[in-house]
Amino acid sequence: LLGLQTTKIGQYIHYEESVHSTQKIAHRIAQEGAKEGTVVVAEEQTAGRGRLDRAWYSPKYTGAWMSIILRPSIPPQQAPQLTLLSAVAVVQAIQEVTNLSPDIKWPNDVLLNGKKLVGILTEMQADFDRIHSVIIGIGINVNQQETDFNEQIKHIATSLRIEKGEEINRAALMQAFFLKLETLYEEYLKNGFGLIKVLWETYAISIGKRIIARTMTANIEGFAKGITDEGVLLIEDDEGVIHRIHSADIELSAK
Ligand code: BTN
Repeated sequence: LLGLQTTKIGQYIHYEESVHSTQKIAHRIAQEGAKEGTVVVAEEQTAGRGRLDRAWYSPKYTGAWMSIILRPSIPPQQAPQLTLLSAVAVVQAIQEVTNLSPDIKWPNDVLLNGKKLVGILTEMQADFDRIHSVIIGIGINVNQQETDFNEQIKHIATSLRIEKGEEINRAALMQAFFLKLETLYEEYLKNGFGLIKVLWETYAISIGKRIIARTMTANIEGFAKGITDEGVLLIEDDEGVIHRIHSADIELSAK
């Protein structure tokens, strides 16, 4: 990449035309000893993966499909913080390159006008007390047009091109993202999660609003107070009970 201003992220780029999933390749090369900051990028994924075993639609030449290898010296329980950090970095990069202002939806969606623009999937290779690598998978819908989305996802997904009304330079967007990610990651390693958490909460749509969290076992409705240092969502219900939500799909409440 020309003009890359980072010293770590994106210094090594493993580029492929077509892959099953960049996550899979990143896991393999991380195991083989790939350096921190190595990025796997593909033009197309034929089996892109999302959270909760969902598929991630990744057509050719339209998106930024990438997986970034990090090797932080942090306890494995703190790895989810890197998902939140990545969401902040991607929002900042999109703002810089397109002037659009996406929102973050807990835990790891980035939305524009209520539709999904970016997905983030963080996975790690770790022993119980030591991280070998964290693989951050990011999919940004960049240049898809409405007709590129199938019936199922066209109501819930969007792209930068659709929202902005013009084509976006994918390389420029990735470069901006690498720089934001590196800056935030260095801040995080030096000073911890504090600043990242504040930034995340300012971009998050749900915080300070009434929401419904659909977990595996129950629907919890109440006021989204914020997140903890571990990225756990705190919801206060109408009885004043605080619920700690580790995993759920959330939506704004109509009430
Ligand atoms: C989600 O919203 O559920 C997460 C989607 C993550 C998609 C990205 S695209 C690059 C990387 N490779 C994958 O197979 N998935 C992630």
